[in-house]
Amino acid sequence: MQIKNKKLEIPVIQGGMGVGVSLSGLAGAVAAKGACGVISSVNAGYDEPDFEKNPLEANIRALKKHIARAKQISKGAGLVAVNIMTAVSNYARTCISAVEAGADIIISGAGLPLNLPEFTKGTDTLCAPIVSSARAARIIMKHYKKHFGVLPDMFIIEGSRAGGHLGFNEEELVSGTAKTNDEILSEVLSEVAKEDSNIPVFVAGGVYDGADMAHYINAGAAGVQIATRFIATEECDAHDTFKQVIVNARKEDIQIIKSPVGMPARAVESPLLKRLREGEVFRARKCNGCLTACKKDDSIPYCISRALIAAVRGDWENGLFFAGSNADRVDRIMSVSDLLDEIMTEYNAAVSV
Ligand SMILES: Cc1cc2nc3c(=O)[nH]c(=O)nc-3n(C[C@H](O)[C@H](O)[C@H](O)COP(=O)(O)O)c2cc1C
Repeated sequence: MQIKNKKLEIPVIQGGMGVGVSLSGLAGAVAAKGACGVISSVNAGYDEPDFEKNPLEANIRALKKHIARAKQISKGAGLVAVNIMTAVSNYARTCISAVEAGADIIISGAGLPLNLPEFTKGTDTLCAPIVSSARAARIIMKHYKKHFGVLPDMFIIEGSRAGGHLGFNEEELVSGTAKTNDEILSEVLSEVAKEDSNIPVFVAGGVYDGADMAHYINAGAAGVQIATRFIATEECDAHDTFKQVIVNARKEDIQIIKSPVGMPARAVESPLLKRLREGEVFRARKCNGCLTACKKDDSIPYCISRALIAAVRGDWENGLFFAGSNADRVDRIMSVSDLLDEIMTEYNAAVSV
């Protein structure tokens, strides 16, 4: 498949996973197979020696290093993208750095990425907003056309079954009344067709196997974005404990939680979540100001960055382990190459019937 001047052999995007879950190890291995690997920018420098003292510099340096390393691992195959949430502080500087470092795509959600073309327009980096509704897609297209004279290069729909922060309200998530991926896809496709039906649309959230992929492609999607399954890979940048949390997760362990940034999120039951339910607080000794939406005051029971850093380091007691609704189906750790081969074999079988 061709997206502007970029070639994607396998129409799978590995979902960006912060903090530190998808860095160059995972993104490079995914790109090496001809798919799209994604580095998450959020606190990418969490392991840099000066992270505590100077988080912005550490994050930018680490992001550039991981883009270069992922490209080295992929040896020119596939695509290397960066996921930059609109909710991160220093959004502009992070986007500019990703473009400078040669990211193939900037994927941006957790809010409407209304000024993304400011950084990608006229560069070799594609602009890929994440949306959870046709309304969001419409607002973004109108805004891009009016202010930048462009349209998005692609869209990613993130449905209600995804992991991490979710663009739905808690009530509809818990009651199961949120729109399905199929409904949102069909609405987004008709919205996009009003402007340019060639804009590729990818579907994310609960996409598990090649049969799911065939289903969405048959319904008009260009491909899919998958995140949770990539945590349980040898190349994933998270600690083995995180990978085992996914392998061991049962349906009843996967829950909707309130994130301190004001959005609901999906995570696996853990000692930290239990302590929070019992009223314990888990604040940062020092606030790095990493997210614009975080209130950074005493109304926030825990520092989400610290909890996500604890998870990626394998700290079971203090970690917050984000996961998608299908985590219970993951039963083993495998290589990225085997996972993508499995998905493509299932896909080919599904489309040949
Ligand atoms: C551990 C984890 C961390 C995530 N972090 C981010 C992130 O930093 N930015 C973002 O836009 N989405 C993030 N997501 C969402 C994924 O990129 C993806 O869209 C979603 O999880 C897809 O659903 P699936 O996990 O069911 O495949 C995260 C998901 C998980 C499981």
